[in-house]
Amino acid sequence: VPATAAATAGGVAWWWAGADLNTAGKIRFENRLFIPPLAPSRKDPEGRRLFDLRATAGRHRFRPGPPTPTWGVNGPHLAPTLRAARGETVLIRFRNDLPETTTLHWHGMHLPAEMDGGPHQPVKPGATWSPTWTIDQPAATLWYHPHPHGRTAVHVYRGLAGLFILDEPTDLELPSRYGVDDIPVIVRDISLKPDNRLDLKPRSQGSVGIVGDLVTVNGTTAPYLPVTTQRIRLRLLNASNSRIYRFGFRSGREFTLIGTDGGLLPAPHDTDRVQLSPAERAEIVVAMEPGERDVLRSFPPRTGLNPWDRRWTGADDTLDVLELRAAPRLTPSPPLPTGRLADPPRLADPATPPVRRFRLAKYTINDKAMDMDRIDFAVAQGSTEVWEVISVDGTPHNFHVHDVQFQVLSIDGKAPPPELRGWKDTVHTLPDTPVRIAMQFRGPPNPAMPYMYHCHILNHEDRGLMGQFAVTADGRTPQAAPAPTPHE
Ligand code: C2O
Ligand code: CU
Repeated sequence: VPATAAATAGGVAWWWAGADLNTAGKIRFENRLFIPPLAPSRKDPEGRRLFDLRATAGRHRFRPGPPTPTWGVNGPHLAPTLRAARGETVLIRFRNDLPETTTLHWHGMHLPAEMDGGPHQPVKPGATWSPTWTIDQPAATLWYHPHPHGRTAVHVYRGLAGLFILDEPTDLELPSRYGVDDIPVIVRDISLKPDNRLDLKPRSQGSVGIVGDLVTVNGTTAPYLPVTTQRIRLRLLNASNSRIYRFGFRSGREFTLIGTDGGLLPAPHDTDRVQLSPAERAEIVVAMEPGERDVLRSFPPRTGLNPWDRRWTGADDTLDVLELRAAPRLTPSPPLPTGRLADPPRLADPATPPVRRFRLAKYTINDKAMDMDRIDFAVAQGSTEVWEVISVDGTPHNFHVHDVQFQVLSIDGKAPPPELRGWKDTVHTLPDTPVRIAMQFRGPPNPAMPYMYHCHILNHEDRGLMGQFAVTADGRTPQAAPAPTPHE
């Protein structure tokens, strides 16, 4: 067992076992989990829900010693939780006070392409960008992060990420008091240099780029969460650049998976593991006994490690993530619903042949690297398409499509497991394993402004594993994408 040290500085207790990445059982959870605040909003004269967001550079204390230079929205690190209900129109005034051009992308959101915040909506330093759209999709845990062309990895790594929770009236009794029994859990791995600056090239494992040795939750290292109710809902987001987590508990307890990327699952699913590749989300409900403690942990795969997994995703690490500390007395929670939570996605029959195929490799899709000036194809507004995605370079990737939530039809020809039966916007793709997805493109049509599809391992995305599609009235592909018009 390596030597350990305990220290406290600036309110952050620190207990760390050295540069050993298998931290399970070695972390003393001494820092109360930070809960990102809900972003304030107000109704503007036109009835839109108006949020003011400002990205700035700041300093955040991860451990004793000098604070770490970071980036954040409305604060020095991470971003506040946005919240809006289905049917509402939101207006977001985003001011970029960073020293670099960035963007803000609303991951998982259905919205017009010019509001998407991808690489075609750059916001220069000092400029303000004000996207507006009407929320038209089920309750879900979405998120937002920068998407500047070729620079997404470093902008996210510096701390720009926040949740965007969508609400919808429901009769289901689920834990839903934000910060009390409904808890954001934004998981990011980082590495710090000896002077506490962010290490931009830590344990750089070939192509995936950043794999950190320090797991943070909502920016807190070695975090614990006081639990005061019999059941809590954790909204897990993998906001890491490349690491894959397989979440479970130290005790081996089961929990209930109730939601994935795009909303509630058709039915609750009891399990003891949930895997999240970068950008994926899971909503789980955990039942606790009074006085009990348990640790949310990331485990290696059960099926044995593939060499690519070990090498590229840090998947052999066993990482302690968050301690849950139940109070001696717990407020009763209603029992979880056992029946249907949501209508299952039914966009296409699993036997429907794909109309498009995507071969993912480093750093291309179908042998082409991302080109801002090339729209790869167009889809017709209102159409439903089946796509087949496959990793062909011997390493895992994942696949994210902007604007839509998709239905996973099959994986390697087989029906998807329960955790992939709800709405998804990002799916993990193992080598040589075809994944078929179905999605509907609702528009509005805009031949001049594309949406992105890409691998969410951010270094892969930045280096070209990305393409662009437009939604057009007739499905015909426009000739060229417009040059990005920066917001001055
Ligand atoms: Cu989370 Cu194209 O992004
Ligand atoms: Cu990839």
